Amino acid sequence: MSSDPLFRSLERPTDTVVIQFDGVALQVPATLSLAAALIAAGIRQTRTTPVSSAPRTAFCMMGVCFDCLVEIEGVSRQACQVMVYPGLEVRSHHAGNHHAGNIEERSDD
Ligand code: FES
Repeated sequence: MSSDPLFRSLERPTDTVVIQFDGVALQVPATLSLAAALIAAGIRQTRTTPVSSAPRTAFCMMGVCFDCLVEIEGVSRQACQVMVYPGLEVRSHHAGNHHAGNIEERSDD
């Protein structure tokens, strides 16, 4: 899987933080949502669908599609609704490796 960023920021970020995604340290702009930061870092898959295990990542960036689901501290979260912070540890989201938390996943496939 390519890790070339899909998007480039018009401005160079001045402040960055280090987060972990599936055990890999990523230095990302401090002012972005987690979904935007992962895209900027070249991450192109953050979850798989429960039925076919198809790859998904952020799509709507506004809390509607749920394609950005990730696991943070064992809880399913929408990456577009979480701001990055130093030391944030994130795991990709796969059916069966998480607790639903307060989010119900929409059907897919
Ligand atoms: S990108 Fe659609 S809900 Fe997060």
